[in-house]
Formats: sequence, C-alpha cells, structure tokens
Amino acid sequence: MTSVSPRYTRIAGTGSHLPPRRLSNAQMVQLLAARGVETSDDWIVERTGIRARHFADDGVNASDLALIAAQQALASAGRTAAEIDLIIVATSTPDMVFPSTAAILQAKLGVAGCPAFDVQAVCSGFVYALTVADAMIRSGAATRALVIGAEVFSRILDFNDRTTCVLFGDGAGAVVLEGSDQPGILAADLHADGRHVGILCVPGTVSGGQVLGDPLLKMDGQAVFKLAVTVLESAARAVLEKAGRTEADIDWLIPHQANIRIMNGTARKLKLPTDKLVVTVDEHGNTSAASIPLALDHAVRNGSVKRGDTVMLEGVGGGFTWGAVLLDY
Ligand code: ACO
Repeated sequence: MTSVSPRYTRIAGTGSHLPPRRLSNAQMVQLLAARGVETSDDWIVERTGIRARHFADDGVNASDLALIAAQQALASAGRTAAEIDLIIVATSTPDMVFPSTAAILQAKLGVAGCPAFDVQAVCSGFVYALTVADAMIRSGAATRALVIGAEVFSRILDFNDRTTCVLFGDGAGAVVLEGSDQPGILAADLHADGRHVGILCVPGTVSGGQVLGDPLLKMDGQAVFKLAVTVLESAARAVLEKAGRTEADIDWLIPHQANIRIMNGTARKLKLPTDKLVVTVDEHGNTSAASIPLALDHAVRNGSVKRGDTVMLEGVGGGFTWGAVLLDY
C-alpha cells in the first residue's frame, strides 16, 4: 500500500495543567521580604502585567505536569496514547540530565516504541517543537504527535534576585497533532543567534558529580526586552509572507507570555487590536516553553479560539531564539 503524505498538520486537541500552588504578588512580596529582598505588587503589575504564578511542590517534575496536560489533549482529540507515534517535549527544566523528559513521559503514559525526544530552545521551545513535528508529519515520518511544553522554572530561580524571580512560573501545555488535507499549520519561521547567550542563561553545569558554575537563571532584562520586540515583529511578518496572508487575516495572536508590555507592543506593530491578543501572563507569569500551549488551551476552552480561526503563535527566549507559527485552528 502506498501512503500519501498529508498536505497539512492540524491541531486535533489541546490540554494544559498548572500546579495547584498559586502565589499572588502579595505572597511573593512576603516570601522575598523574609529574605530581605524588597518588591511590590505595583512594581510587578506595572512593569510586567503579572499578578500571580503557580509553583510545583517539591518532588513534582516537568514530566508530571506534562502528563496531565497530555492526557487532557488526548481526551480533547478523542485519541489514546497508544495512537500516538511521536512525542516531543519542549523544556529547559527537564526531570534529569538524561534521559529526555519525553521518554519519561512516554513511560508515564503507559506506552512504548514511538520516538520521544526533548527540544531545548528555552521560551521558543514550543514553536520549535511544533515546527519539527509538523515537518515529520508532512514528510510521513509520523502520523499523530503529542507536542508538549512543560516547565518547573521555580527550580532555577534565584529568590535573592528580584529582577528575575517575580517573573516566572511552572506549568505545562500540550497539543495532539494529526495529518490532514484541510489547512492547519500554514507556515513557520525559526531563528537563533548564539551571540546573545549571556543575556539570558542558567550558566551552571554538572561535572564530576558536582554542579559547576551557578545553576540559577540570569537575565539582562532590558537587553532581552529590546531584542524581543524587534524579532517578534520580524518573525510575524515572515510567517505571514510565507503563508500568503496579511495581518488582517489574524484572528488571534498568542505570543510567549513574558511581559504584557512586549505583547502589547507586538500587537501594536501588527496593527492588531488588543482584544485579538490572548493574555494569560497575568495569572501564569512566564512559564517559558509551556506558556504558548497553556495560553492556546485556555483560549480554546474559554471559547475564544474556534475551529477555522487563524492563529499566530510566537516564541522568544534564551539562546537567543525566536520564531512564529501561523495556523488555521
Ligand atoms: N521589584 C521592585 N523593583 C525592582 C524589581 C522588583 N521585582 N526588579 C527590578 N526593580 C528595580 C530595579 O532595581 C531598578 O531600580 P533602579 O532604577 O533603582 O536601579 C528599577 O526597578 C528598574 O529596573 P529595570 O530593569 O530598568 O526595569 P524594566 O522596566 O526594564 O523591567 C523587566 C524589568 C520586567 C525584567 C523587563 O526588562 C522585561 O520584561 N524584560 C524582558 C524579559 C523577557 O521577555 N523574557 C523573555 C524571555 S524569558 C526566557 O527565555 C526564559
């Protein structure tokens, strides 16, 4: 039998999970005050739009959050784990140095055999993973994929550094992808520029049974901010051009949820009204690779994103990495 590769990859279902422990800004103020570190709800809201974030309890890993998000996505697609033949997890906070969080997740899903691997592109991880899965499905290398962004960033935060620790949270988001002749993913545009490694990194490493260097997140916020607004606009324009669409065709913009000012700035540059912008950064903080699929799932479940809508996903983060995916949901 000859198999014909599908023309498109479609999102068949979405899911997400936030660990139950929610910390409001007021609780972060208290937590930091106990360490002699000063911050305020006003500063965090005004500079970032963040009002709360979720932190996983000790012993809960990225694969545990990914499992619940994956099970939800499978249920919403009407599929079982046994029907999946590709698993990709985007994460920068894996359960172990190796094996991959995707392999650990595969076992937790109770299946074996299909390829499973992680993608590490920090906050751009989900758009990178989606693009890889799309290429594998359209080439015939896979027929049905689980793509997940899952993070426990609370583990790599320096709670003595107020310029970073108030920004991030934990969570997971997942999609089930299938080949289709109906439009789904229309175009993708990925980039990296390793000259900017130092502006956003966790510089520690494991060597000789010890952690060498500092295993906590470091960020030059202003440098990241400036690069982010530029590259998010260029990636958006590039995918629109590749797909033969214009800004006017976008029903929903789902950018990486890092900072409301960057998100509003991107929407403004694309001449999109803010009611086309999906915002979850206020309640989730920056969940890195999990932020886009978490926001997508929330927007699908609250009835905002509907079948047939044109959705722009945009990631930006450490590396420096960035990218966009345009799709018909
Ligand atoms: N509470 C109170 N004051 C604070 C805090 C805080 N939590 N953090 C910083 N400040 C102070 C600073 O010390 C500084 O004080 P000073 O003027 O007395 O020196 C003042 O606030 C202003 O600091 P800036 O760094 O200039 O603040 P800015 O407006 O740039 O906002 C922020 C900082 C929110 C980090 C912003 O630069 C930003 O969002 N950057 C982009 C982050 C991002 O998008 N990351 C995405 C990628 S994430 C990834 O890939 C993992």
